[in-house]
Amino acid sequence: MTTAAATSFPIPHRVRHTSALKVAAAFWFAVTAVGQSLFVLYILGFHGRALVQGQPEAVNKVLPKGYVPGDLLGNVALFMHIAFAVAIIGGGLLQLLPQLRTIAPRLHRWNGRSYVTLAVVSSLAGMFMMLTRGTVGGPFMYAGMTLDALLVLAFACLTVREARARRFDSHRRWALRLFMAVSAVWFFRVGLMGWLVINGGPVGFDPVSFRGPFLDVLAFAQYLLPLAVLELYFRAQSSRNALASRVMAAGLLAATAFMGVGIFGAAMGMWLPRL
Ligand code: HEM
Repeated sequence: MTTAAATSFPIPHRVRHTSALKVAAAFWFAVTAVGQSLFVLYILGFHGRALVQGQPEAVNKVLPKGYVPGDLLGNVALFMHIAFAVAIIGGGLLQLLPQLRTIAPRLHRWNGRSYVTLAVVSSLAGMFMMLTRGTVGGPFMYAGMTLDALLVLAFACLTVREARARRFDSHRRWALRLFMAVSAVWFFRVGLMGWLVINGGPVGFDPVSFRGPFLDVLAFAQYLLPLAVLELYFRAQSSRNALASRVMAAGLLAATAFMGVGIFGAAMGMWLPRL
């Protein structure tokens, strides 16, 4: 369209504010994809290498309750949990690509089935490990992770139910909620490292005992905050109010900028040095 034609047919107001939201959502997805890929790189390079080299005890450098000699069931649960994490994170990113749904609907369905199954099994394995061996942090961490596992199970059921009933708009919403709950482990690391970078060190928790009010809040915020932002995004998407849509787009860009700081901190401080 020429400039003159564009002037005589101005872009409708609603199209402009919904496209600002689309741009913000695409930017969020691009930053998330980079950050989650770096996490996968670390999982493969650190945990994968320990397994391939036949030195499973090497994972104890980062996992306080990692490989325990003689605990066959616990060790199988741990390494299955970690191996599944690679497929879950990779599969989740693939599933969010809108192009995949239109170009390869069969792949979308199979990847979706595998994502839901692995997320459910991995959450159950995570709960088993936490209850039998324990993990870092205090009671809030345990409660926060237990609630996350229960949300994964509930959201997985609702995602599948809505797809089977061919209620695709509702299916999409539950699938996105599932993605947020499954990504809690990643949000935790990004939130923690973003907080450390912004404050120039540990504030609100003791880095040795790994306890304190900041971590108590993060134990729940790791998924409740992304889920709350997602609900606001859904409302802005269906709203006819241009201001609400623009405010949401700006808020999403700000949240993505904070995520970017956290990803940088996690990559430089936790993931890349361990490769
Ligand atoms: C379904 C999504 C999940 C994914 C993708 C995931 C991924 C991971 C990864 C990659 C690790 C290794 C961490 C590292 O090297 O820094 C890990 C460890 C662990 N995860 Fe998960 N996880 C998930 C859900 C859960 C849930 C719901 C629980 C508990 C209810 C849980 C409990 C644990 C425990 C106990 C460890 C070992 C930590 C330690 O040794 O202290 N995970 N998980």
